[in-house]
Amino acid sequence: MQDDVLIVHGGSPLEGEVRVKGAKNLVPKAMVAALLGEEPSRLRNVPGIRDVHIVRGLLQLHGVAVYEGDEPDELVMDPSSVELANVADIDAHAGSSRIPILLCGPLLHRIGRAFIPDLGGCRIGDRPIDFHLNVLREFGATVDKRPEGLYLEAPNGLHGAKIELPYPSVGTTEQVLLTAVRAEGTTELRNAAVEPEIIDLICVLQKMGAIISVATDRVIRITGVERLGGYTHRALPDRLEGASWACAALATQGDVFVRGARQLDMMTFLNVFRQVGGAFSVEDEGIRFWHPGGRLRAIALETDVHPGFQTDWQQPLVVALTQATGLSIVHETVYESRLGFTSALNQMGATIQLYSECLGGTPCRFGQRNFQHSAVISGPAKLHGADLVIPDLRGGFSYLIAALAAEGTSRVHGIDLINRGYEGFHTKLAALGARVELPPQQSGIAVAADAAGAVHSVA
Ligand code: EPZ
Repeated sequence: MQDDVLIVHGGSPLEGEVRVKGAKNLVPKAMVAALLGEEPSRLRNVPGIRDVHIVRGLLQLHGVAVYEGDEPDELVMDPSSVELANVADIDAHAGSSRIPILLCGPLLHRIGRAFIPDLGGCRIGDRPIDFHLNVLREFGATVDKRPEGLYLEAPNGLHGAKIELPYPSVGTTEQVLLTAVRAEGTTELRNAAVEPEIIDLICVLQKMGAIISVATDRVIRITGVERLGGYTHRALPDRLEGASWACAALATQGDVFVRGARQLDMMTFLNVFRQVGGAFSVEDEGIRFWHPGGRLRAIALETDVHPGFQTDWQQPLVVALTQATGLSIVHETVYESRLGFTSALNQMGATIQLYSECLGGTPCRFGQRNFQHSAVISGPAKLHGADLVIPDLRGGFSYLIAALAAEGTSRVHGIDLINRGYEGFHTKLAALGARVELPPQQSGIAVAADAAGAVHSVA
């Protein structure tokens, strides 16, 4: 598809302002939570990204009326007529996102049955759903796995459970929350994930009438209630998108004010950004990130669950690390295959070597298992333009950063994938002075994405 290629002329700094809206990793889940209520919910600060449109479609298939609210970026969801959707209609969403798995608990509570299509999402590892199915069974659900997807029922209702996760999985923690809030009795979840997006989901559920406490030792306790109402909530800002723009500023020697970025959610990132040699200033309305001049410093870094360094920050930061002087070490401990994108950076002139050992940090689940999950980055490297094919969401944005930092012209293929998580990224790039264009047939035209994430050209 012609529109799916972006031509990027690199070599000039990104300068100006972008705004981040609600977090991609909260908004679709808060939309699922609306299913649990018996009154309409209002979600604010909703970004126009593909994942939101997918969940909107899924909710509508289940009888939820979804419409724009009075405020800009506000969605209203009215679940008063929830019904079982047609399996073939749901199946049309197969492979589009990982969010459908989170509909299990809410649908079992509301209509006693659920069909979940085969999941999609970024190919950054095997991404199994075993934890999800195990916790659903602990609540009393039966799961029938068939080639087209999962059929779930709860013949005796859903009951609170004592659960300990083998790993603090974000999605499984959300699964437990969305199921336990209306299960009979209390649920205790040990080794839970506590990412800011999860805490924000807990805030949403509490507004609906749920009783949830979070202890400092990764233990979440939920007392089930019989009925939940609606909520009005402003989604927390997207700290992953914020960090992506920060890395773009650093790698291109630029200066970007990210309106909406919040210090509290980005503390770990900010520490690393400063260690590498980036400068930032926290202001009331956002955070300004810039390259202060001089050399960037190599660092050793390990990704981890919150409050560690988020895995989704890793890929954009690696591009900036190609510009640091010396050897940087990155140990990816959350996903086993999230460093494959570096081969394209090498093609552009970077020197990045991958290892299957756990380098520079504590041994992780992937050590001794032949996954290339550690990287040594030798810099600074002079990057040059190349033909790139986007592998996944964050890897894709990282390719854009690399293309912008490189000398010469790059063709970035598969840019439509970026619309899954970055609202109007073309428009934002243009506002920062990036020189990007569609292929020659439509040359000289700036591009933008509409609220549905579809790419179109603007004169
Ligand atoms: C969420 O994925 C995010 N996605 C990811 O963001 C993010 O990288 C990840 O959390 C970690 O922060 C959304 O919120 C939609 P996990 P999730 O369950 O919930 C293993 C982005 O670019 N695991 O915390 O799917 C799994 O394989 C995306 O914005 C199992 O083994 O992640 C991984 O190694 C990409 N079995 C680890 O746990 C399971 O049943 C963490 O995964 C579930 C997970």
